[in-house]
Amino acid sequence: MKQLNIGLVGYGFMGRAHSNAFRKAGNFFDLDRQPVLRAVCGRDAAKTQAFARKWGYESVETDWRRLIARRDIDLVDIACPNDMHKDIAIAAARAGKMILCEKPLARDGREGLKMVEAAEKAGVPNMVWYNYRRIPAVTLAKQLIDEGRLGRVFHYRAKFLQDWTISKDVPQGGAGLWRLDVKVAGSGVTGDLLAHCIDTALWLNGPIDRVTAMTETFIKKRKHNLTGKIEKVGIDDACAFLARFKNGSLATFESTRYARGHKALYTFEINGEHASIFWDLHDLHRLQYFEHRDEGRLRGWRSIHVTDGDHPYMGKWWVPGLQIGYEHSFVHQFADFLESLGSRKPARPTFRDALETQYVCDAVLKSGKNGRWEQVPSAIGRI
Ligand SMILES: NC(=O)c1ccc[n+]([C@@H]2O[C@H](COP(=O)([O-])OP(=O)(O)OC[C@H]3O[C@@H](n4cnc5c(N)ncnc54)[C@H](O)[C@@H]3O)[C@@H](O)[C@H]2O)c1
Repeated sequence: MKQLNIGLVGYGFMGRAHSNAFRKAGNFFDLDRQPVLRAVCGRDAAKTQAFARKWGYESVETDWRRLIARRDIDLVDIACPNDMHKDIAIAAARAGKMILCEKPLARDGREGLKMVEAAEKAGVPNMVWYNYRRIPAVTLAKQLIDEGRLGRVFHYRAKFLQDWTISKDVPQGGAGLWRLDVKVAGSGVTGDLLAHCIDTALWLNGPIDRVTAMTETFIKKRKHNLTGKIEKVGIDDACAFLARFKNGSLATFESTRYARGHKALYTFEINGEHASIFWDLHDLHRLQYFEHRDEGRLRGWRSIHVTDGDHPYMGKWWVPGLQIGYEHSFVHQFADFLESLGSRKPARPTFRDALETQYVCDAVLKSGKNGRWEQVPSAIGRI
């Protein structure tokens, strides 16, 4: 079997989620490439070494440029903060490596476009880890929509709610808290959380035409962990926006880190002429489905337990009725990526697909500042 030599940059939350996927995919999917955990890169040699031992990486680098220069690496996986995505991706593309990159693609569309151009010029396979597409219930929603079961779509409604930054004592910047530092993250909940909602929405319901948004930074100043000084907070703590899709449907999107009681409540609902769909990350193995064409007396919301062999991906796991979880979405995405290498169809979302999401985020943030409707430029013309 052909080997695929992986070099991972970043060993935090996503470094673990990806490493788990690299190790598991071949056990559950029939792959014709053998992933090899060749090297992991982090700035702290001892901590990176400890990660390498725990997850089975053969070697360690402390400078991502050295990782990219290695001839024994085929694929660079970017699992570090957003401000590093562009430089690593462009260097990896120039070196002819395949690239997997965490979301959001970049801090903004300008950076994202440069990444797209570099990857496409080099002709290297590329994909962004918008992993929610590969949760079986979400993939099932996509199948139902593509089969035309909803008919004309009128509404799309998405939320992503958390509550971990309510205290004014939470600092910004540095390890674990780079998400609060706008220079590193690019934006707050828009790029971190709404980007997921937007990616799913573009996939399920097609392109967004225009948006109007309100954003807020509730806590204006926080101590910066790297400088030790109290500094202005530049991220959006909360964002709500209205959108018009190109298919004529209307949408509301909302995200905040100030919704007391919610840890990671990602939900979406789609209302069509014949049917509606609802999904909730806290109950991720279920899809709620309402079919108006059912006999009237029996009509009602169905709660589909997405665990049967004919549900997306589920035939690869256990027996019907036994559910899987969050980490499996990464296994599925990596398995799909490997499968795509032998075909002409790229695994999606590609960098260019993710640029479309980036453009929506940019338009949302712009509208949040000027209070106007903003047109979303097309990155693709199709999704
Ligand atoms: N797909 C998802 O659902 C999802 C979830 C969480 C995070 N993310 C994305 O994944 C990326 C990483 O987020 P995270 O939550 O894993 O962050 P994290 O803070 O847990 O980990 C970041 C890692 O990057 C490393 N790093 C920082 N600077 C580095 C450098 N110069 N060289 C090498 N390594 C460096 C850190 O040491 C750490 O290991 C971000 O882009 C984030 O938006 C995606």
